[in-house]
Order: sequence, then C-alpha cells, then structure tokens
Amino acid sequence: MKRWLIIGAGDVAQRMMPLLKHRVRLFALCRHPEKAHFWRQLGAIPILGDLDDPKSLTRIAGVADGIFHFAPPNMTGTKDIRTRHLISALSRCHSVPQSIVYISTTGVYGDYQGQWVNETTPTKPTSSRAKRRVDAENQLRDFARRTGASLTILRAPGIYAENRLPLNRLKEQLPTIQDNEDSWSNHIHALDLARAAILSMHQPFNSRVFNTVDDEPMQIGTFYDMLADFFDYARPQRLSRNQVKNMISEISWSFMAESRKIANMRLTQELGFSFFYPSVLSCLSNLKK
Ligand SMILES: NC(=O)c1ccc[n+]([C@@H]2O[C@H](COP(=O)([O-])OP(=O)(O)OC[C@H]3O[C@@H](n4cnc5c(N)ncnc54)[C@H](OP(=O)(O)O)[C@@H]3O)[C@@H](O)[C@H]2O)c1
Repeated sequence: MKRWLIIGAGDVAQRMMPLLKHRVRLFALCRHPEKAHFWRQLGAIPILGDLDDPKSLTRIAGVADGIFHFAPPNMTGTKDIRTRHLISALSRCHSVPQSIVYISTTGVYGDYQGQWVNETTPTKPTSSRAKRRVDAENQLRDFARRTGASLTILRAPGIYAENRLPLNRLKEQLPTIQDNEDSWSNHIHALDLARAAILSMHQPFNSRVFNTVDDEPMQIGTFYDMLADFFDYARPQRLSRNQVKNMISEISWSFMAESRKIANMRLTQELGFSFFYPSVLSCLSNLKK
C-alpha cells in the first residue's frame, strides 16, 4: 500500500480524505494534539510536529513515499522557512519521498493588468507573500532535482466552497472597484483542488506547474454582485480604485489590486483534470438557499 503524508492538514486536505481512505496509508502532520484526534477520526495517522520547530519534525523522515505539501509559508520575510525545515527533515533519511505535490498560489505571477497568463508566463511577485511562494517552489524544485523525486506544483487562485464564501465582506458593505477599472480574478472550488492534488500524486511529473483554476475568470465586482444576488445582500457600492484602496485593509487591497486572467489548458489537457465545478456559478446553482 502507498504511504502518503499530508503537510498542511487543513481544509483542502480534509476534502481529500473520503477519496483516499482505505486506498492509501495516510499520515498527517498536526501541530496540536486536539487536531491529531480529529485526523485519526478522518482515517489518517497523525504525527505531531510543527514546521516552525525543526526539532519536532524528526518523525516524518522516511515515513512516506508521497508528500502533499499544503502548508502556507511563514507570515514574514521573502523566504519560506517552513519549506526549508520540511526539506531538511525529509532529507534526514536515506529513503526520501518519490513524489511531492505542492499547492502554491497564482499570486506568484504578480500583476498582468487583466492579460491572460499561462504556466510559461514569467513570475513577477510583488508582495512578500508571493515572494515566499516563489521561494518555496524553487526550494522544492531543487530538492526534486537532487533526489530524483517527481514534483507537481498546483498554483491555486482564490479557494472557495459552499461554506467558504466571503459573505462577511458583503455584510460589512465594503465597496468594490467600478467596472471600467476592476481587476480580474480566478477561483477554484476546494474539492476540485483536492481532486487535482490526488490526480497529480498518481501521475509523476518532473517539476511541472499547473494553474489549478476553474474555467471562468471573473472581475472581482462581478463575483461579489453574483454572491450578493444569490444570498440576498445588497450589491456592494462600486467606487474608483483609489477610493476602494483607501477604504479597505492593506491585505485586502493586495488581493484586489493585481489583475490577471489565468488559463487552465495544461490542467485539463495534460493532467486530464475535469472539474466538478467549472465556475463559481455552477457551484451556487447546486445550492439550495
Ligand atoms: N485561501 C486561498 O484562497 C488560497 C489561495 C491559494 C493558495 N492557498 C493555499 O493553499 C493551501 C491549502 O489551503 P487550505 O485552504 O487547505 O489551507 P488551510 O485550511 O489554512 O490549511 C493549512 C494547514 O497548514 C497547517 N500549518 C500551518 N502552519 C503550520 C506549521 N508551522 N506546521 C504544521 N502545519 C502548519 C495549518 O495547521 P493548523 O490547522 O494547526 O493551523 C492548516 O491546517 C494553503 O497553503 C493556502 O495558503 C490558499
């Protein structure tokens, strides 16, 4: 039986569990003992450890032949120290993993002012957050090159699900950008991201990147209008970019400011992925209000 280890045992990883249980021996790195109990109930063998504490990671060496790395980088700096600790822990055993699937972000592309972007488009990260992701990708590529492991990098955009929609923003009546200046954004349902990760683990790639985005890039204002209409909230007020920037937090603005339409042809044609939810609307249409 294959032995796979989940690093970053959160929402997307949870959604993989029903699809993997009893087919694979699963391990999950947990920072807190109460989470360990939860993951045992889901069908994984918990391993206590924290990527911020390298000494706590000794038990993950040699445990698995496949690694799902879904943990976000540390919150500051331009380097991903957590991935550094992970690689160092995995390298401690002569039996290193044969396959790694890493969830990165489409934030690594930076701002393309609404242009189409594919996997060959150069990354131009502007925020420290995106720079840490580029660093993580590079560290993992280097590890894969040194060890011969396969590596698949899934670049994810805004992750959503039925229970994971930004309705608070509508409740708070925060404005969005007027149509003629609005940014383009992309989405992926958390279950589709989980399914793409499993599919990637089954198909070894040599450091290959896949934009794991659905079929329909949307302007951010259109996305919020659609949610507002569906859940009976008032549509957000539309203002100029400058006005919106001054009315929302810096972190929220950093997500709204960059604009790009992301292509997913490699995901569908090369990885052979088909979506349960090809658009946000297709997910909402399945929901009963
Ligand atoms: N939110 C988005 O729209 C978006 C977009 C693109 C990419 N992503 C990235 O996609 C990945 C998967 O997303 P998700 O929704 O599954 O994220 P999530 O629910 O936040 O799960 C991430 C998991 O990583 C674990 N983790 C964080 N720091 C850790 C550490 N020092 N040691 C061990 N574990 C640690 C967390 O553990 P605890 O449970 O103990 O906190 C959490 O369970 C994440 O890296 C996320 O940043 C997110």
